[in-house]
Amino acid sequence: MTFADRTPLLEVRGLKKNFGRRTLFEIDQLALQAGEACLLSGRNGAGKTTLMRILAGLEPCDEGTLYYRGQPLRTGRRGCLGGRVIYLHQQPCLFDASVEKNLAFGLRHLSRQVAGLRVEQALAWSGLGHLAARNARTLSGGEKQRIALARAWVLDPELLLLDEPTANMDSEALEQTLFLVRRLINEGTAILLCCHDLRSEQRLVHRRLTLRDGTLREDALALTPMTPARGLPVDTTQPSFRQITEA
Ligand SMILES: Nc1ncnc2c1ncn2[C@@H]1O[C@H](COP(=O)(O)OP(=O)(O)OP(=O)(O)O)[C@@H](O)[C@H]1O
Ligand SMILES: [Mg+2]
Repeated sequence: MTFADRTPLLEVRGLKKNFGRRTLFEIDQLALQAGEACLLSGRNGAGKTTLMRILAGLEPCDEGTLYYRGQPLRTGRRGCLGGRVIYLHQQPCLFDASVEKNLAFGLRHLSRQVAGLRVEQALAWSGLGHLAARNARTLSGGEKQRIALARAWVLDPELLLLDEPTANMDSEALEQTLFLVRRLINEGTAILLCCHDLRSEQRLVHRRLTLRDGTLREDALALTPMTPARGLPVDTTQPSFRQITEA
């Protein structure tokens, strides 16, 4: 079975977004499949952030319906997608607390023991154990972005909307961040990755979309997707969140 044969994880049909009298975009249909990685490109102001926020249920649209696993949703209602779809801003909003506390924030509903174990796993997963006790606000931009990815990972989302996660990063921070994005993709998380510099990011994805002149187009991929990861080896011995919480 190919991605196209399945009920989409998230789909939007007949989408129109206006700001005042100006129509920012009109999109007939966009479907994101479970486990699929897509790149979203477009010039400054094309509407990438706005589209991602609509898909995350954080912003209303003027026309159109959003479907999650085939079920219609009312957009613009905070929490309508729970933790299943997570939008990550380019400049992650981290709390004025330790990295560990930041990672544990979304796990308050779990017992201390289970949450603590999950935080330990997130630190190992992201390779950021050495920063566990640091105040998250004192970290570099690249470190903050990786903490934000780890903080999303602990929630085990089905779709992550990543809004320019590598903007203003040097090549080392970019590789470290993309390593975690690749890890998420390999673990089956669907990703919509928005960026300007396509050279690095398009190695990771299955599809490439461009928002231009108010419409969304699908582009042919210039490079073979899913080439082998560079960087740390993936630790496949870590149990998944579902394995822990269901134990
Ligand atoms: N709340 C708002 N009210 C009015 N106009 C807005 C609002 N939010 C965004 N816009 C406008 O909509 C357009 C698209 O903005 P958006 O941030 O979605 O673009 P983008 O593609 O993410 O740009 P960038 O690459 O700079 O991040 C811009 O012209 C912006 O000024
Ligand atoms: Mg933007």
